[in-house]
Amino acid sequence: MATRDFDEHSITDAVVDRFAQVPDPRLKRILTSLVRHVHDFVRDVELTEAEWFAAIQFLTRTGQTCTDTRQEFILLSDTLGVSMLVDAINHRQPAGATETTVLGPFYVNDPPVRTHGTDIAAGLAGKPLRVSGAVTLPDGTPLAGAAVDVWHSDEDGLYDVQKAGAAPSQRARFITDVDGRFAFWTIVPCFYPVPHDGPVGAMLKAAKRHPFRPAHIHFMIAHAQCETLVTHLFVDGDPYLDSDAVFGVKQSLIVQLKEETGPAPDRAITGPWHSLEHRFGLKPLVK
Ligand code: BEZ
Ligand code: FE
Repeated sequence: MATRDFDEHSITDAVVDRFAQVPDPRLKRILTSLVRHVHDFVRDVELTEAEWFAAIQFLTRTGQTCTDTRQEFILLSDTLGVSMLVDAINHRQPAGATETTVLGPFYVNDPPVRTHGTDIAAGLAGKPLRVSGAVTLPDGTPLAGAAVDVWHSDEDGLYDVQKAGAAPSQRARFITDVDGRFAFWTIVPCFYPVPHDGPVGAMLKAAKRHPFRPAHIHFMIAHAQCETLVTHLFVDGDPYLDSDAVFGVKQSLIVQLKEETGPAPDRAITGPWHSLEHRFGLKPLVK
């Protein structure tokens, strides 16, 4: 192997060769493949120096936009479909297990634990929605004691953490009962844009892409015997179901909200309300 005078083709093997002694085989495989793909990409598009520098500036701005509460690199990964690709490879679900999707930036660790039937959007304007469900193994066996974390946007498309000084709202943890069930009240969520005032937003704008995600409720469901499930339920009929900015929609996660006019469980409601019932299947841990 030559050690100098590399040309636009021979440089790739030279760089790969320089990683020959990486002790960790997985790291070696990742670095080698990365170099080959990046070099092939540069050759494919015949990257100009101006384009290379624009990319460096874009990535620099992406890093500079990150704060304790904002992760612009994850947003870049989300909007390039990389997050959902990693998700797909790492969560090949068996029949009867719920499909997964992205976590997103608005999850808060250890949300307030609420009792079944609590209204987690108390005081907020919106269409009342009762969400109920069961957590089971793929074969339908109920899972008691599962922690069901939920969070979602309000009718203006905002999460509580996006509103200065707001107390936890539209988010909670419920523990499933002996039948694996949980229930809560909230309001119908609305579609909203991913943060688009930074470099990722500029990338979307340059590409004439919109920043919207269809209305959804996030779920993170944990049980000692199972892999933690990170998913959403999407509201059927949303205008952005086929153009989610982060490619997170799966048909099996789209649910219809049922219009109800009869008496509402757990609370006195005058006027119409909606209900949503869903079973979540968790994948057992491999022992
Ligand atoms: C969310 O659904 O909360 C979300 C996911 C990815 C990027 C931004 C927001
Ligand atoms: Fe969300």
